Amino acid sequence: MIVSADKATEILRAEGIAAIPTETVYGLAGAITSEKALKAIFETKKRPFFDPLIVHVADERQAHSLVKEWPEVYHTLAQAFWPGPLTLIAQKSPAVSDLITSGLDSVAIRCPNHPLGLQILRELKIPLAAPSANRFGKTSPTTAQHVETEFANKVAVVDGGACEIGVESTVLRATFDPQIRFWTIEILRPGGVSRESIGSALTKANYHFKFVTPKETRSSPGSLEHHYQPDSPLILVRREFTETDLKKEISQRSMIVVDRILPLELPEAPELAARRLYSQLRDLSAPGVALVFSIRPEHLTPPWEAILDRLQRASTSQI
Ligand code: TXA
Ligand code: MG
Repeated sequence: MIVSADKATEILRAEGIAAIPTETVYGLAGAITSEKALKAIFETKKRPFFDPLIVHVADERQAHSLVKEWPEVYHTLAQAFWPGPLTLIAQKSPAVSDLITSGLDSVAIRCPNHPLGLQILRELKIPLAAPSANRFGKTSPTTAQHVETEFANKVAVVDGGACEIGVESTVLRATFDPQIRFWTIEILRPGGVSRESIGSALTKANYHFKFVTPKETRSSPGSLEHHYQPDSPLILVRREFTETDLKKEISQRSMIVVDRILPLELPEAPELAARRLYSQLRDLSAPGVALVFSIRPEHLTPPWEAILDRLQRASTSQI
């Protein structure tokens, strides 16, 4: 059910939920002050309660109200990338519901860069918890129509057009060692803002820092091994195959009968590839179809990090 931004604001104020556009993917939003709305988000998505939600804010000032402390480095990053696809993990204030954080003592915050998403946040004056507007584990929606299909027209959706970025935000956690005045930066989920641009922004502001690989996966279940899955199996292919051999391999591995193999053809420019990725996964999925993506050397370069991450998690196997 398509609704205007004003109508969505009204629904959200009345403790309902609504799907809103952001520059990355559509989010299924609820006011952070409403337990009813938060529960409805989990129920609608069939999302397990152990997977925490991202809180969307109108601006950096609103982020301050959600945390115990907002480190200087987050101010620098917010200045450089907000509104935009960067989610920052900070120590939560007691006011933030455990439903949002799954009992963690931290909260994930970002300010989305979409005129309608921002308009709703500014008018509502309450931050919005919003995971991607898809059933748990499935491909994220990048158009209002995707959301309509996903929830059988039962959820109010604001149509903000096709998402500019097309993959989710980068989730980042920074920790400070005061003794050596050094920042450790963990990318919990690669996404819309590249590691390179984060590195440049920190270098420009004279921070001493290093990137480290996150240790535990519980801190970001969006990094679950299987996530973002389309309805048809997706197979990542690293060498040449004949069509017959490919069908045989896939039938054996995915235990489905494959009538047709469809190649996922992404544009060469990574920004365009990201924008097209989820739509292609949805549009090409059909009964009896297996999707195939050939990984080439250029896909193993930094600008492709987030896309390759999503392809890997969306895939059923790699051959
Ligand atoms: O671009 C996006 O980030 C989209 C749009 C709607 O903003 N949202 C999104 O939400 O992708 P979701 O729920 O699908 O993914 C949220 C990610 C998950 O990987 C979750 O585990 C992580 O953020 N996350 C949330 N709270 C966290 C926390 N306190 N510590 C670590 N990771 C957290
Ligand atoms: Mg998601």
